[in-house]
Amino acid sequence: MALYPLVRPLMFALDAETAHRATIAALKLWPKRKPPLFPPSLRSTVAGLEFPSPVGLAAGFDKDAEFPDQMLALGFGFVEVGTLTPRPQPGNPRPRLFRLREDRAVINRLGFNNQGRVAAFERLKRCGHRGIVGVNIGANKDSPDLIADYVCGVEAMVQIARYLTINISSPNTPGLRGLQDEGALDELLAAVRGARRPGGPPLFLKVAPDFGDGDPERIVRAALDHGVDGLIVANTTVSRPPLKSRHADQSGGLSGEPLKPLALEALRNFRTASGGQIPLIGVGGIANADDAWDRIRAGASLVQLYTAMVYRGPGIARAIARGLAERLTREGMASIAESVGSDPA
Ligand SMILES: Cc1cc2nc3c(=O)[nH]c(=O)nc-3n(C[C@H](O)[C@H](O)[C@H](O)COP(=O)(O)O)c2cc1C
Repeated sequence: MALYPLVRPLMFALDAETAHRATIAALKLWPKRKPPLFPPSLRSTVAGLEFPSPVGLAAGFDKDAEFPDQMLALGFGFVEVGTLTPRPQPGNPRPRLFRLREDRAVINRLGFNNQGRVAAFERLKRCGHRGIVGVNIGANKDSPDLIADYVCGVEAMVQIARYLTINISSPNTPGLRGLQDEGALDELLAAVRGARRPGGPPLFLKVAPDFGDGDPERIVRAALDHGVDGLIVANTTVSRPPLKSRHADQSGGLSGEPLKPLALEALRNFRTASGGQIPLIGVGGIANADDAWDRIRAGASLVQLYTAMVYRGPGIARAIARGLAERLTREGMASIAESVGSDPA
């Protein structure tokens, strides 16, 4: 995407959400070509699925499943659509999305703005199925029963999703992160387990990067007890590491470069807690092949990104994949699986 450096100043002249809508409009027009061929060393099997490249698109960019084929064609090894709630909802009032340019970061308090799962289901039925498209599931803000929203989300999407993600870590829906607490998490995972089908898609759980001591052990135990197939570490942070931008004090979830150390530490904690018993997907501040490589060596079988694409364009997925393949060659490794967890410290 040599075009992106030319387009970026135009995008950055718009407010962040208008720029995002313009990007979506452009991507929907992008040809649905076949995904590129990746070097065989990048192939891996995780939770029973064969991924052509370990570099995926994180949830939140294509919330309504409008252009997953295009993102696969642009070089993402897999795409996670959503978060989708049972009913459509407008999300929080604007402005609710902020670019922190000096920090290469974003703060969002979108609040699961989405057209609802029925509209997404219809779109996914029509999409090309040329790659792995996962569906990220959430709860409506005004839901009287958050757990019931996840259960019906799983029941509805189980037929169409290549994998499902239970998102209980977005900071912008009141009460949602409370589902990560001990009793609530057990109740949620037991209910979701009952909604799955034998032979159905694997189920991932997406967690926050903001945890106390002992939480990763507790969450790993619950995940293993309830047959969860992978943990996505992590969502945006509500903490505020030192930031330079004038938007630093906006409320919401922070993503991008300042999240990187926190997300890497969270991943290491989950790797230590799980001892490799459950696959981990590393997310948060990944912007180049070195970041992805570090995350894989710390225990991630796959990685995802969002914010770095805002700053570097969609060509970033292919560039990272290329860089990872080069590192494998340099290290004399035949596959990504060999490097997973090779440097857990
Ligand atoms: C604007 C925006 C919207 C997001 N929406 C969602 C969402 O709907 N569901 C979700 O699970 N994560 C969402 N995320 C979190 C990302 O999937 C990812 O976990 C986080 O941004 C860290 O990765 P990054 O630093 O590469 O962006 C969103 C992130 C951003 C920046």
